Amino acid sequence: MKESVGIGLLGMGVVGGGVARVISQKGHHIQHLVGAPVAIEGILVRDVGRARSFDAPASLFTTNPNDVLHNPKVDIVVELMGGEYPALDYIQKAVSLGKHVVTANKEVMAKHGPDILAQAAKKGVQVLFEASVAGGTPIIAPLLRDLVANDVLTIHGIINGTTNYILTKMAQEGSDFGDVLKEAQELGYAESDPTNDVEGIDAAYKLAILSTLGFRARVSDADVYREGITKLTGLDFQYAKELGYAIKLLAIAAKVDGSIQVRVHPALVPDHVMIAKVDGVLNAVEIQTDLAGRVLFHGPGAGDMPTTSAVVADLVDISRNLVRNVVAAPPLRLSRDIRIRPMSELETKYYMRLNVAERPGVFAQILTVLGRLGISIASAIQKENDEEAQRAEIVLMTHRAKESSVQEALRLISDLDVVNSIGNLIRVEEWD
Ligand SMILES: NC(=O)c1ccc[n+]([C@@H]2O[C@H](COP(=O)([O-])OP(=O)(O)OC[C@H]3O[C@@H](n4cnc5c(N)ncnc54)[C@H](OP(=O)(O)O)[C@@H]3O)[C@@H](O)[C@H]2O)c1
Repeated sequence: MKESVGIGLLGMGVVGGGVARVISQKGHHIQHLVGAPVAIEGILVRDVGRARSFDAPASLFTTNPNDVLHNPKVDIVVELMGGEYPALDYIQKAVSLGKHVVTANKEVMAKHGPDILAQAAKKGVQVLFEASVAGGTPIIAPLLRDLVANDVLTIHGIINGTTNYILTKMAQEGSDFGDVLKEAQELGYAESDPTNDVEGIDAAYKLAILSTLGFRARVSDADVYREGITKLTGLDFQYAKELGYAIKLLAIAAKVDGSIQVRVHPALVPDHVMIAKVDGVLNAVEIQTDLAGRVLFHGPGAGDMPTTSAVVADLVDISRNLVRNVVAAPPLRLSRDIRIRPMSELETKYYMRLNVAERPGVFAQILTVLGRLGISIASAIQKENDEEAQRAEIVLMTHRAKESSVQEALRLISDLDVVNSIGNLIRVEEWD
């Protein structure tokens, strides 16, 4: 039996500080679970002089990664720096040195997860990454363990708290994107550079990880079709509500005819569906499988303590094995490559908002274009917005149609004399 487990922290910011605090404050509980004490043996940071949320002994801090990676007392390297590089280099180095790794890094796992796991399997070490998706809400372990007997059919996720907060506010207040973003930044819910969140990049990383695990096929963030939330307006929320829908930034993965569709974009979600009611910074992931049916995971997607909860669970898992000298089986065997469906092949329903001239025959012209491309209309709302300028707004809900036809129709519609502009096009996600 191993007498103690040594942890090397790479990064001690929001999450690293939380992990250090919990290892210290819940030391007895963790020791009880593991069967031996777990102690931090080294902490890599950029600036050793910076004030920290947790007071660790100064002797543990270093700016030299080798002090942690090559430290013989470090059994588990916990990467909590973020970003692709140098985090990836340090994780690979740790594995090559036979150390176990825990990481919360979605970018590294989305881009390099399968390679890292293959390298770890060869070295007989564990790499766990529960905190990389949905923070404190368990989703990686359930996919790898509890749902392992299932075929995953679809994944629907609200996996970015910042955008969900912004969309919730837009829905509640009818405000526009820019105003709510500013407010979210002032409250600390959005970063000063919000690109990764509002353009769906962060959600695409997480969807790539979930899809790789769910479909047991290599899916990277580059495979994910991505559209952010910046084009949504208060009007879209108003119309969506009238039609019985919420608007959410959804991360969607589905198996269709043996290929996989992976996409992140704003979607109209029927307001009776559970995921439509997930508001504020919370996250939710619904997995539909052949055996279990629909399973919903819901909870905090970020924050120091929720994320620490996931990191420490991984630490305890590895530490237990270390203490008992157990070599864990590799968590994932990927099947051969599966085709990623291009977005043009998507078939779904659509919401279209068009700004048009208030003249007789406008509607007929638009319907003619749609009809020619095989797109039929399920419902329509026409609002006279500006009587003096003779402008009106038309909102159309289509039946199921092909993405390529809808894009072509929009191109043709925007060329019509009677159409001033395309207000928005939002895909509608239906639940059966
Ligand atoms: N925050 C959350 O709620 C949350 C939720 C889920 C997942 N995550 C993930 O958890 C990870 C950590 O996030 P965080 O919010 O804790 O980040 P953070 O507060 O920015 O902390 C990053 C830490 O890493 C250190 N660091 C960064 N680059 C470094 C480098 N090149 N060399 C040495 N040290 C370096 C920083 O050192 P200094 O302190 O000296 O600058 C800092 O201590 C990220 O992958 C993030 O995506 C975070």
